[in-house]
Amino acid sequence: VRVFVDKETASKEAASAIAQLIKTKNSKGEKTVLGLATGSTPLQLYAELIRLHKEEGLSFKNVITFNLDEYYPMSPQSEHSYVHFMKENLFNHIDIEMENVNIPDGTISKEEVNDYCASYEKKISEAGGIDLQLLGIGRTGHIGFNEPDSDWNTLTRIVTLDPLTRKDAAKGFGGIDNVPTEAITMGVGSILKSKKIIMMAWGEGKASIVNEMINGIVTDQVPATYLQLHQNVAVYLDREASTAL
Ligand code: GLP
Repeated sequence: VRVFVDKETASKEAASAIAQLIKTKNSKGEKTVLGLATGSTPLQLYAELIRLHKEEGLSFKNVITFNLDEYYPMSPQSEHSYVHFMKENLFNHIDIEMENVNIPDGTISKEEVNDYCASYEKKISEAGGIDLQLLGIGRTGHIGFNEPDSDWNTLTRIVTLDPLTRKDAAKGFGGIDNVPTEAITMGVGSILKSKKIIMMAWGEGKASIVNEMINGIVTDQVPATYLQLHQNVAVYLDREASTAL
């Protein structure tokens, strides 16, 4: 657990860890597989990656990405989609090949969704697994959209969103009634298979759930506690998010 003076400093540190990983992998002629998150938490990190690309020539040509989740149903054209979010905040500003970008498809039919989720999981394995997974945390203790009751071995699947998660998303959607009730998310088990994880949390509002994640008993009622079982997790906090530890 590392506590930084502010989220900007923490985000720069996380971005530099990613840049280092990409360079090391490049020097071995290997691709880097990144697991990406949405929400407000990684915004400064993505801004710093864009800066590193524009000002220091960091290339994403050999990077493959898998996003954690997408609302369901959700059109990729919608301003609420995570596809839109990722393009606006990262992909449109770097040299990544869009064929290397993977985000769960919120348009898949209910009949096909289980097969689709299995294929998403398979694609991650075929890429060699995730080298570095970025995570934020929801106030329910969710990682990705793995809400309470999500077990340690869950894989990519369709889930029902917790009312608190929908409430937290309501502002961006112009009211809770517009927030989808479901999502497709990588599972806790998918996340735990990553070789390294960077979990980030900012602000007082996350302090209590951050404390539970780190010091609480491991339980499916707070899926983020399963990170305690992983060998290589760095938790980056600003001062406010660390106050309950
Ligand atoms: C969203 C995302 C999560 C994210 C969390 C926290 O629901 N699906 O991946 O970590 O909520 O959001 P924020 O970073 O805006 O606090």
